[in-house]
Amino acid sequence: MLHLSCMEKSFLWGAATSAHQVEGNNTHNDWWAWEQQTAGIKCSGRASDHYHRFKEDFALARSLGHNAHRLSLEWSRIEPERGQLYQPALAHYREVLEELKRQRLTSFVTLHHFTNPLWLAEAGGWERRESVELFANYVKMVVENLGDLVDFWVTINEPVVYALEAYWHKRWPPQKRSAPAVWQVVRHMAAAHRRAYQIIHRAWVGARVGLAKHLIAYSAKQTFKDYWFNHYFFTLVGEKQDFIGVNYYFADQDKLGGGPKSDIGWPIYPAGLTQVLLYMKRYKLPIYITENGLADVRDSQRADFIRDHLRAVEAAQAQGVDVRGYLHWSLLDSFEWDKGFEPRFGLIEVDRATMERRIRPSAYVYKAIIESAKSQ
Ligand code: BGC
Repeated sequence: MLHLSCMEKSFLWGAATSAHQVEGNNTHNDWWAWEQQTAGIKCSGRASDHYHRFKEDFALARSLGHNAHRLSLEWSRIEPERGQLYQPALAHYREVLEELKRQRLTSFVTLHHFTNPLWLAEAGGWERRESVELFANYVKMVVENLGDLVDFWVTINEPVVYALEAYWHKRWPPQKRSAPAVWQVVRHMAAAHRRAYQIIHRAWVGARVGLAKHLIAYSAKQTFKDYWFNHYFFTLVGEKQDFIGVNYYFADQDKLGGGPKSDIGWPIYPAGLTQVLLYMKRYKLPIYITENGLADVRDSQRADFIRDHLRAVEAAQAQGVDVRGYLHWSLLDSFEWDKGFEPRFGLIEVDRATMERRIRPSAYVYKAIIESAKSQ
């Protein structure tokens, strides 16, 4: 049994999802449009039908011992046309966030997780400076209508990954390759984060605002990559964050020998989590792990993965890193972007034909770890 001695009683335990990956029928965003038009790309369709089954899904999370949950709001549902607030979408998200409260799940609410309203994409997306103000308007709508229900705000998910995938590797819409575009997108997203930080804090004194940053463990000689990929965005954000959200999946190839891999070939390297947490120590802020997980359809590696990564969290805590929560990616099997539905990241399996949920054995191992940590 895993003995976790460093976790405080208040430690947050849970899992994460994002709107486009689980809700289904997000027909007003750029991903949806791109899926329909692009050969060889799966359509998200009903995704995991979480839009209709969120109550059941939160109840399952609660039954698995979770006390926190991360989800994202779909901007294109809230503002399907520029400047037009769609009340039924806000009413829906109010119900969702109220349900989290009812289930006693602390909420981490992401405002942007890779998708954009189609109208924004058509107007040039994040390459244009105007995106900062447009995002700020959306944040205002959310803050005014739902702010009372949010515990932790995650403004933007993985801005650097988004910029590289969409504007360099050409894997995500709008499939461009342009170094100036990458810089613009990153800088605009940082400005958007800073604006959002101000807006939220003005409305809610004591709000906790951060972002979810993908971090990679590098070998000691990769100082430039470490700076550019892991730290540059934080230099743009400055003091405007109340916590650090860490998404950790793997280390740089340079660091790795052979070692086990997930179903999609991502190397499994728990020690890298300790390393990236130590990278974050310099910011002197509380840290929440906002994503960590693997594609494992047979569920043969997930339990060990969770155990080993939590040991890695403890190793960082023992070295003075202030880690206060762990959110596994993901609660559910979901739409894995350009990779479609094949990679299975869920603690809970989703039957694609019936949408039936089945709890994977590793989810019970995670539950036992949570319970034993809480009882110490
Ligand atoms: C993203 C998730 C994605 C996960 C696994 C993360 O970088 O934030 O949306 O599902 O990786 O691919």
